[in-house]
Amino acid sequence: MSQLSPLRLGIAGLGTVGTGVVKIVRQQAALLSARAGRDVVITAVSARDQSRERGVSLSGYAWESDPVALAKRDDVDVFVELIGGDSGPAKDAVEAALASGKDVVSANKALLAHHGQALAEMAEIAGHVIRFEAAVAGGIPVIKSLLEGLAGNEITRVMGVMNGTCNYILTNMEKSGRGYNALFDECAELGYLEADPNLDVGGIDAGHKLALLASIAFGTQVDFDAVELEGIQRIELQDIKHAADMGFKIKLLGVTQMTGRGLEQRMTPCLVPDTSPLGQLDGGTNMVVIEGNQVEQIVLRGPGAGMGPTASAVMGDIMDIARGNRVPTFGVPAAKLVKATPAMAASTAPFYLRVGLMDKPGAMAKIATILGDAGISIDRMRQLGHVDESAPVLIVTHKCMRQSLDHALEAMSKTDVLTTAPVALRIENL
Ligand code: HSE
Repeated sequence: MSQLSPLRLGIAGLGTVGTGVVKIVRQQAALLSARAGRDVVITAVSARDQSRERGVSLSGYAWESDPVALAKRDDVDVFVELIGGDSGPAKDAVEAALASGKDVVSANKALLAHHGQALAEMAEIAGHVIRFEAAVAGGIPVIKSLLEGLAGNEITRVMGVMNGTCNYILTNMEKSGRGYNALFDECAELGYLEADPNLDVGGIDAGHKLALLASIAFGTQVDFDAVELEGIQRIELQDIKHAADMGFKIKLLGVTQMTGRGLEQRMTPCLVPDTSPLGQLDGGTNMVVIEGNQVEQIVLRGPGAGMGPTASAVMGDIMDIARGNRVPTFGVPAAKLVKATPAMAASTAPFYLRVGLMDKPGAMAKIATILGDAGISIDRMRQLGHVDESAPVLIVTHKCMRQSLDHALEAMSKTDVLTTAPVALRIENL
């Protein structure tokens, strides 16, 4: 028999992840109890639809149709929020749980990315913890690595591919030769897309994750609005082919680092060397690369979604609470988190540019002049086959600042020689 009293869970949200957590608690009870030194039990659950068949028994659990009521129950020690969404019931219930003396475990990246600071302050004042391992990179214990295993490091940079759907689309465009729209449709059929697909392909889901990692890595208040975001919707097969010809893969890459000018956070499609660990990451898998002044570099790779991996991350947090391992939400007390100055990509890089140009005299010269006027030097330039009146031009620049390039792109858009808006991708030599 365990000596401590059982840890009592209230689980709100019985979709894929919630069901996975119930399965672990039921099927691995003895293992959890042995590891925590106490039983881990579910006392109550809540979801929208009580009658749905979930493939797991809910017998013995009280049912609450309102997650806020669940969060306030006296027989719940830990409120497990698996509802999702940055406002509404998820936020109301987490706040109710903290106010009524519960610890919180959540998989909700949007909620934490938008309200992380306020919730962390609330938890701290109440003397409780919020844990959210499952919110970032699914089954990869990246938050625990940053919070604990790497606590002795000054973190210098965190990078990663953190949206499996985008990585699935990009790698399968290359492998199958099918275009973006066909792969998007395939993801919809496979159930890979979020309810709002723009969260995936627009880079928002991955941006939420990056903002959370930045806060933990640099001790700053989470600031999702400062993430430079760009989705993968404009990547074409030809971009993937041109990148491959130069020895690169296109990835939706997140990078955050503290620079002399402020905190850089960007989630944008980039070219990365095809021989690098990030370049070799195929399909729906996630990868996070962490660099610290002592550890140098570590690479974490694993499933970024799915029932087992995400429930595994939720259970890791629950087990920490069961064992009495209590860490501030973002690693340092919420009141001590610094408000960082946002810095747009502070380091220079070469860029890949695809410009659709009118096939008429002087068009190429105009573009080259605009780049020159912006102080951007061209490394390579190639005109591709004409299609009707348009001639796509591929340009690789020497290293430049993203802001200079944006000025040049703005100037190009005001000319009469473009047939399509340019695609500009940073080349990240990792
Ligand atoms: N939609 C996400 C992805 C999983 O495709 O990686 C949950 O964050």
